[in-house]
Amino acid sequence: MSDNIKSLQKKIAEAHLGGGEKRIQKQHAKKKLTARERVQYLLDEGSFEEMGILVTHRTTDFDMDKEIYYGDGVVTGYGTVDGRLIYVFAQDFTVFGGALSETHAEKICKVMDHAVRVGAPLIGLNDSGGARIQEGVRSLGGYADIFYRNVQASGVIPQISAIMGPCAGGAVYSPAMTDFTLMVQDSSYMFVTGPNVVKTVTNENVTSEELGGARTHATKSGVTHFTAASDIVCLNQIKRLLSYIPQNNKILTEKLPYELGDELREQLETIIPDSSNKPYDMHDVIKGIIDIDSFFEVHKDYAENIIVGFARLGGRSIGIVANQPMSLAGVLDVDSSRKAARFTRFCDCFNIPLLVLVDVPGFLPGTDQEWNGIILNGAKLLYALSEATVPRVTVITRKAYGGAYDVMNSKHIGADINYAWPTAEIAVMGAKGASEIIFRKEIASAENPELKLSEKEAEYAEKFANPFKAAQRGFIDEVILPKETRRKLLKAFAMLETKTVDSPKRKHGNIPL
Ligand code: COA
Repeated sequence: MSDNIKSLQKKIAEAHLGGGEKRIQKQHAKKKLTARERVQYLLDEGSFEEMGILVTHRTTDFDMDKEIYYGDGVVTGYGTVDGRLIYVFAQDFTVFGGALSETHAEKICKVMDHAVRVGAPLIGLNDSGGARIQEGVRSLGGYADIFYRNVQASGVIPQISAIMGPCAGGAVYSPAMTDFTLMVQDSSYMFVTGPNVVKTVTNENVTSEELGGARTHATKSGVTHFTAASDIVCLNQIKRLLSYIPQNNKILTEKLPYELGDELREQLETIIPDSSNKPYDMHDVIKGIIDIDSFFEVHKDYAENIIVGFARLGGRSIGIVANQPMSLAGVLDVDSSRKAARFTRFCDCFNIPLLVLVDVPGFLPGTDQEWNGIILNGAKLLYALSEATVPRVTVITRKAYGGAYDVMNSKHIGADINYAWPTAEIAVMGAKGASEIIFRKEIASAENPELKLSEKEAEYAEKFANPFKAAQRGFIDEVILPKETRRKLLKAFAMLETKTVDSPKRKHGNIPL
């Protein structure tokens, strides 16, 4: 065997050991897989092709030239997931805590450039102590090189970030600019400044978990779209997510084979309660419409008054945005508007048709909402839906009140097909509120004001709390029976498959931020 062959084998064996057995054990003791184990699990068996395994850092300060690890703390390359090409980088916490050096960043940039040129998703598995402290500004430059590429790749290829360990300081901005973030519970955290700095500056006592753990970002900030109980669960979620999205913005997600059968769904007939103030679970409506077990909810624990997620309808991948009457009566507020707008824009970037299910009593009132910019945030959703050129279908199940009627994918803002169930109430506001305003004098001067109010309420409801006025105008294409919904949607999305829209030429729009 030649010396070079021996030398190569030795280097590769060293690279596979990362920061060494002891540090690997430490990683396992924290219930974390190593970078290589993660890549192996994510990709189809035997499909991983590594790039840059022999790369080493170039730093000599602080005796760094005496501490060299092949691969420099990040495993990069390409492979397949369910037979589809993807690019991947996985930071190796066993090498300098996965800290990002100039060369570590170059390796990540290389796979990002490949992914964009070839048109394949990029998956980042983050587990890093941040900028490599020994390298100073060179490592900061490395981050910025990645951020810049994240933005250039945005809307061109899907970018997914899993946070599987620390992710702090500037490092957080790469995941934040990708399409989806996943966090592993108890072993990952994300924050711009950690608990010690927080204590110094604001005198707050907070743990890493409270400040930026998976639960915090899933429920309070919305920074993460998914949380996972372990590394394996997280990697499985990435695989599932990939199955709903296409390789890049020029193609459609592959349609699974589906044979049309009896598409009536009787269970949809009994979901809407008799009283219009009673809640029901919009998940039941979704379940009754889509292919069995195909719903993959995004941002499940954040702004629960709106539901967003992917599903399949006749084998076709669709995005669903739906008001949830079980939470805050399904109102639109700051967080739910932002959540739905972001999801809408993802679907539009990547040619995923949108189904919008509407049961919305309006926008949430209050100083908190106004001062936190419900105007701008509501406008985000209005803007996102208005600019979306993918096939867009709406089903109004019950309330569609006020400005929220317009926002929730109304015909007026470019929806292609708008259905309403007979239970739909399309009006400026609820019958009680409306009667209190327009019949105020009559009610006040009545012998029995309460009785008068209920009479007037019934009169208003009779006139407006239905879908027929909107259908007369053509704002609703058809009032359909709930049980027919799936059948109608299958046909509508098939009909819309070749939809094209020529948008006016401009640099880019100016979405309210
Ligand atoms: N640069 C260089 N080396 C780093 C590093 C960084 N940013 N972060 C961690 N490391 C090294 C540690 O020196 C340690 O090396 P060793 O294995 O030779 O002892 C190894 O990575 C593991 O770090 P350790 O601190 O033992 O792990 P931990 O799980 O206890 O803590 C962190 C993890 C991320 C909380 C902690 O390492 C940390 O605070 N790092 C610095 C974060 C930071 O300020 N980054 C720069 C600004 S973005």
